[in-house]
Amino acid sequence: METLRTRTRSFLSLFISLSLLHLSLASAFSPTDHYLIDCGSADLTTVDADHRRFTGDSSEFGSRFLLSTRTIRLGDSNPSPDSSPIYHTARVFTRPSKYAFRIRDRGTHLVRLHFHRFDSSNFDFYDSQFHVLANGYVLLNNFTVVDTQNPRIKDYMIWVDSEELVITFMPSKKSKFAFVNAIEVISAPKDLVADVATLVNYEKIERINGLMKSALETVYRVNVGGPKLTPFNDSLWRNWVPDDEFLKSSDGSGRVYYSGRIKYQMGGASREVGPDNVYNSARLIASLNDSVPKLNLSWEFPVMEGYKYLVRLHFCDIASISLGLLYFNVYVNGKLAYENLDLSSITNLKLASPFYADFVVDEQGSGVLSVSVGPSNMSMSHTVDAILNGVEIMKVNNSMGILDGEVCAGAILKSWPRSHVGALVPLIGAVCLLVIASFVLHRRLVGAKNSAAWSLIPVDISEINLKSGIQTSLGKV
Ligand SMILES: *[C@@H]1O[C@H](CO)[C@@H](O)[C@H](O)[C@H]1NC(C)=O
Ligand SMILES: *[C@@H]1O[C@H](CO)[C@@H](O)[C@H](O)[C@H]1NC(C)=O
Ligand SMILES: *[C@@H]1O[C@H](CO)[C@@H](O)[C@H](O)[C@H]1NC(C)=O
Ligand SMILES: *[C@@H]1O[C@H](CO)[C@@H](O)[C@H](O)[C@H]1NC(C)=O
Ligand SMILES: *[C@@H]1O[C@H](CO)[C@@H](O)[C@H](O)[C@H]1NC(C)=O
Ligand SMILES: *[C@@H]1O[C@H](CO)[C@@H](O)[C@H](O)[C@H]1NC(C)=O
Repeated sequence: METLRTRTRSFLSLFISLSLLHLSLASAFSPTDHYLIDCGSADLTTVDADHRRFTGDSSEFGSRFLLSTRTIRLGDSNPSPDSSPIYHTARVFTRPSKYAFRIRDRGTHLVRLHFHRFDSSNFDFYDSQFHVLANGYVLLNNFTVVDTQNPRIKDYMIWVDSEELVITFMPSKKSKFAFVNAIEVISAPKDLVADVATLVNYEKIERINGLMKSALETVYRVNVGGPKLTPFNDSLWRNWVPDDEFLKSSDGSGRVYYSGRIKYQMGGASREVGPDNVYNSARLIASLNDSVPKLNLSWEFPVMEGYKYLVRLHFCDIASISLGLLYFNVYVNGKLAYENLDLSSITNLKLASPFYADFVVDEQGSGVLSVSVGPSNMSMSHTVDAILNGVEIMKVNNSMGILDGEVCAGAILKSWPRSHVGALVPLIGAVCLLVIASFVLHRRLVGAKNSAAWSLIPVDISEINLKSGIQTSLGKV
C-alpha cells in the first residue's frame, strides 16, 4: 500500500515536471488575460482537440462571464466522436445577451468565436441568424452558419482600452436565435499588431498608421508551401491553412522545406508573430541556368469590397546557399509594394531568420486581393530569385467600427424591440446614429432618384430622439 502510494506520488511528480518542461518549451509567451470558455457546458474543464482547457459557462467559475439570464444550454445528443468536445454543447440566446471579460492587460486581444451546428429536437439551426458585437465593434451581422459538418471559427484581433471586453449576441429578429459553442479571449503580445504599415493604393505608396487601435478580422492565414497548422502547432493557438487553393500559377516555382533551426532575432518577427512551422516551409522561384526566369509567383484571395485590408507577408530565406544572393520584388494588387527586397541585410546577415512586412490595401474594386513575388532587376542567375513563407489577410474595421454589414453597433442594439439591452457604450451609439443620419440625409439630398429601395437602418431617422435614446440605455444598466 505504502509503496504503491509512494510510487504513484513519484510518478505524478515526474509527470508534472515533464509537463512543465513541455509547457516551457512549447510556449514562452504567457498571456495576462487568458479566457477559454466552453459555452453551454457545466463542466469545470473541457479539454479540446488541441489539449487546451476550456471552462464551462455553467460551471461555478465560468458562470461569472455570462451576464444575461434566460439563456439556454444545449447539448448535442449525437456528437461526432471526431469533433472536439467544445463543439458538443452550445449556448442559445433568444434575446440580446452578453458575456463580459475583465481585461487586466489593455491592448490588442485575440478573440475567437466558435460556431458549430448540430441536431437538436428543440432548436432548428436554420432559424439561427444573429449579430455579434464587441465593445462597440460589429463583428458579425445577420450571421448564419451554413456548414453542418465543420465548425466555423471567427478570429479577431481587437484593441481593448477599457476594463472589460463585452461580447453581445443578438438574434436578428424575434423569430430567430443566436448561439455560440466556445469563446476565446487572450491578450496578444505587444509586438503582434504594429501601428504602422505601407499603404499600397492606386496613386501612390505611403506610410499609414493607427492600425493598432482597431479591430481586425483574420480572413486568411496561410502557411505557404507547408501543411495545415492547428492551435497545437502555434504559439498563439492559431490555425494556418495550406496555400494550394490560392496559388494562381505554380509554373516554374518550387517548394522548399527546411529542417534546421529558425533564427528569431530581436527586432525581427518573433515566434508569436509566426511560429517555426510557418517559416520552415516556403515556395520559391529559382534560376537553374544562366538566365533569370521572367515570371511571378502569385496568389489570389477573394475579399469583401469596401474595406481596408492589412496584408502581412512572412519571409525567411531558408533556401539560399549563401548570404547576399536573394533580391526580389513584392507586388500587392499588382502594385510594386517592395522593390529589391534583400532579406540578408534586413536580418543582419543571417540566413533562416524571419522577417515580415505589413501592407494596407483599400479594396474598392475587383473583390480579389492578389499577392505576387518575382525576380527584380537585381536578381541573379543560378540563385533563388523570390520566396514567400506565409500570408495573413486581415479586414480592418471601417470608420463606423464595422467589420460586417452596414449598420453600426449602436443602431443594431436599438433595433431590438423594446430595446432593454443595457448600455453598450451609449455615446458611441449616439455618434454612430449621427453619422448615419447625416449619411442618410446626404443620400436623400444627393441621390433621390435611385434611393427608392435603399434603406440603411430599419428605422426612420426622423423619429429618433437621440436624447431619450441615451437615457433609456443608461437607465437599464
Ligand atoms: C438582416 O437581414 C434582413 C433581411 O434578411 C434585413 O432586413 C435586416 O435589415 C438585416 N439587419 C441588419 C442589422 O443588417
Ligand atoms: C501539428 O500538431 C498536430 C497535432 O495536433 C501534429 O500531429 C502535427 O504533427 C503537428 N504539425 C507540425 C508541422 O508540427
Ligand atoms: C533556362 O531554363 C528554363 C527552364 O527552366 C528555360 O525555359 C530557358 O530557356 C533556359 N535558358 C537558357 C539560357 O538555357
Ligand atoms: C510581375 O507582376 C507585376 C505586377 O503585376 C508586373 O508588373 C510584372 O510585369 C510581372 N512580371 C512578370 C515577369 O510577369
Ligand atoms: C531597376 O528598375 C527600376 C525601376 O523599376 C529602375 O529605376 C532602375 O534603373 C533599374 N535598375 C537597373 C540596374 O536596371
Ligand atoms: C477603426 O475603429 C477605430 C476606433 O473605433 C477608429 O479610430 C479607426 O479609424 C477605424 N478604422 C478605420 C480604417 O476607419
